Amino acid sequence: MTTYLEFIQQNEERDGVRFSWNVWPSSRLEATRMVVPVAALFTPLKERPDLPPIQYEPVLCSRTTCRAVLNPLCQVDYRAKLWACNFCYQRNQFPPTYAGISELNQPAELLPQFSSIEYVVLRGPQMPLIFLYVVDTCMEDEDLQALKESMQMSLSLLPPTALVGLITFGRMVQVHELGCEGISKSYVFRGTKDLSAKQLQEMLGLSKVPVTQATRGPQVQQPPPSNRFLQPVQKIDMNLTDLLGELQRDPWPVPQGKRPLRSSGVALSIAVGLLECTFPNTGARIMMFIGGPATQGPGMVVGDELKTPIRSWHDIEKDNAKYVKKGTKHFEALANRAAATGHVIDIYACALDQTGLMEMKCCPNLTGGYMVMGDSFNTSLFKQTFQRVFTKDMHGQFKMGFGGTLEIKRAQLFKVCCFIFYSAKLIKKEICITEHENGKMFTEKAKILDISIQRSFQVYLIFKIKYNICIRRGSCQSVCLVSAGHRAGQCLMEGSHLILHIILADCLLVSLTLLFDKLFLAYQILSSNVLLWPLLHFDGPSFCQHLLSETLVKKCQKFGEYHKDDPSSFRFSETFSLYPQFMFHLRRSPFLQVFNNSPDESSYYRHHFMRQDLTQSLIMIQPILYAYSFSGPPEPVLLDSSSILADRILLMDTFFQILIYHGETIAQWRKSGYQDMPEYENFRHLLQAPVDDAQEILHSRFPMPRYIDTEHGGSQARFLLSKVNPSQTHNNMYAWGQESGAPILTDDVSLQVFMDHLKTCCVKCCLKS
Ligand SMILES: *[C@@H]1O[C@H](CO)[C@@H](O)[C@H](O)[C@H]1NC(C)=O
Ligand SMILES: *[C@@H]1O[C@H](CO)[C@@H](O)[C@H](O)[C@H]1NC(C)=O
Ligand SMILES: *[C@@H]1O[C@H](CO)[C@@H](O)[C@H](O)[C@H]1NC(C)=O
Ligand SMILES: [Zn+2]
Repeated sequence: MTTYLEFIQQNEERDGVRFSWNVWPSSRLEATRMVVPVAALFTPLKERPDLPPIQYEPVLCSRTTCRAVLNPLCQVDYRAKLWACNFCYQRNQFPPTYAGISELNQPAELLPQFSSIEYVVLRGPQMPLIFLYVVDTCMEDEDLQALKESMQMSLSLLPPTALVGLITFGRMVQVHELGCEGISKSYVFRGTKDLSAKQLQEMLGLSKVPVTQATRGPQVQQPPPSNRFLQPVQKIDMNLTDLLGELQRDPWPVPQGKRPLRSSGVALSIAVGLLECTFPNTGARIMMFIGGPATQGPGMVVGDELKTPIRSWHDIEKDNAKYVKKGTKHFEALANRAAATGHVIDIYACALDQTGLMEMKCCPNLTGGYMVMGDSFNTSLFKQTFQRVFTKDMHGQFKMGFGGTLEIKRAQLFKVCCFIFYSAKLIKKEICITEHENGKMFTEKAKILDISIQRSFQVYLIFKIKYNICIRRGSCQSVCLVSAGHRAGQCLMEGSHLILHIILADCLLVSLTLLFDKLFLAYQILSSNVLLWPLLHFDGPSFCQHLLSETLVKKCQKFGEYHKDDPSSFRFSETFSLYPQFMFHLRRSPFLQVFNNSPDESSYYRHHFMRQDLTQSLIMIQPILYAYSFSGPPEPVLLDSSSILADRILLMDTFFQILIYHGETIAQWRKSGYQDMPEYENFRHLLQAPVDDAQEILHSRFPMPRYIDTEHGGSQARFLLSKVNPSQTHNNMYAWGQESGAPILTDDVSLQVFMDHLKTCCVKCCLKS
């Protein structure tokens, strides 16, 4: 017998989907007690080790308003070769290819362990995949050299038929022509003037490239469609490698006291226009690499005078950031154009100072692209992260997909609203496009531009349940998530490649005996809190904190049990027991503590919070702490200052950082070099253990975290001290009479104080409005 938690984890492992509630309520009364709607977090490209993609068409229900997919919940009559759709109860004939089925010979799609299946289907026109590199050349030689090497490396990882293009920019923007013989040729544009797609089309002589129909089987290899600026990588691999090798820093001199003139806004606009004119509605990635802020033309975020610093939160708050609105508007317009033609924009920003990610964040956000931020291109953070974009799964498929849709199929009992948090703008239009009140089946469909590594979608399913039908029908009701898209991979050689993931969540109608996912509920509320305060309408952190406290008190009043005016009587309901603690950490997290972060950093953290799976998102709010010592095996410890002991090594994972902290005694031993003496071999092992564990995380996470090695008294120890619960501070240390742990210089309240205050507020109804 597995526990409920194990059951949830198994489902997530198998299907890449996690529900906040795994049961539907069996009565209306129970339903009203479901204070949080059923929600699902869904990762379409979840690796499924035991089942490679299936190479035939899925069997669909014949009812045109349904078109559900044959699955293990369907009832099958093996003798009559019939199956009954579990959504609309339509009886369907099996196709002739299934003539041989019997109880003993079942196709994979009927086996319960394969409730998620990836189908490879040939359909629609052949789609080349396009990678357009847009490269800033205003950077130090070291950075440019490292970036060039990473780009050259990436060419060898692309599918051979993929088309590649190159745009470089500094003061000017150059579009490189790749098809010409011998000498390399490029078109040069001024970086101060934006061009419409039409102007660009005329200047570059562009036309839409016809795509060919896909067919299966060994046919004559057609040359992939291409044009002068976008060529198949197998053809120009060597030449592009040479061209990248010769790439130089922007040649325009930069006077003393000035920033280099950087035309990021126009460069991206040309990239978007180029793809718009030539390959609309084809899977394409614009990969933009920037080493600093845009300093001229549309989209500029700071002037070129070095003595004027780039905007801070204080400037934004005082309405003293004159380029923010205009710059944001420029990039938003580009993001919308790219999203409309199905193109993805990735941004890799590496510099010590800010690069204007805040103004550009809508590009990856609206198109589903990656956002990566680092200090330099010559760091493993950038190099490894960029390489991971091109990784393949165990079946040899790229973990990358384009032009996707997400459909939710459900039985008539449920009414579903679905939101997908990021690129919400695009999706709203497509939501609920098929709603057949008379048919038995509802489908909600959403557009997803990019389906990639670990990308999770939050799908809210809000149910309107028809109980009379429900009870009559008995137990099983289900929801099916179907995602489809073009996946980059080997099969691209033989035509277009459509994936369909069929995910079934079957649920029993049982009473709600606390069968909920506590962590999920906490996450769900937290994420809506993070979303509720977009810093667009920035009113200062105290405003955020205040609103947050008010929501928290209201929630606790609703879900806690207490007697009026008696704080000690307060009990959290089991469902929400984790919530106040997460809220405590959320208040101190980079999502709300904006003044410790630059606007770029805040944008970066929020971007990643919205697109990681549940476990990772929760780590961002409440980091994980492990302790290593001689007194036993490594163990997770409380994120609390009392965990910081002299004879311990701590490993902290905040998602964005992996930090190893050596306690005072350990640090002294390390300085004295005990680890190098043969008689202290166990000390060497103790030092090595957290390093090994850190490496494991560094090797698997996307984007790669920053690695910090510090010790008691080290300047970087502040990263740890700012995260732990300050249970011992300089204010209360002696009052507590404890000697263990590290007192922390902070005026922030501890979790204990926070909880006490919260309970007092709740029972007094002091914030009730
Ligand atoms: C990149 O960094 C490494 C190590 O810090 C250094 O050895 C190397 O020379 C740097 N690369 C360039 C091109 O400067
Ligand atoms: C590519 O490089 C080869 C030799 O390396 C050369 O002969 C050829 O002309 C080049 N082609 C282009 C398109 O530059
Ligand atoms: C992404 O865009 C959507 C819609 O414009 C917005 O609601 C959301 O907050 C954005 N997310 C981030 C991380 O900026
Ligand atoms: Zn059906």
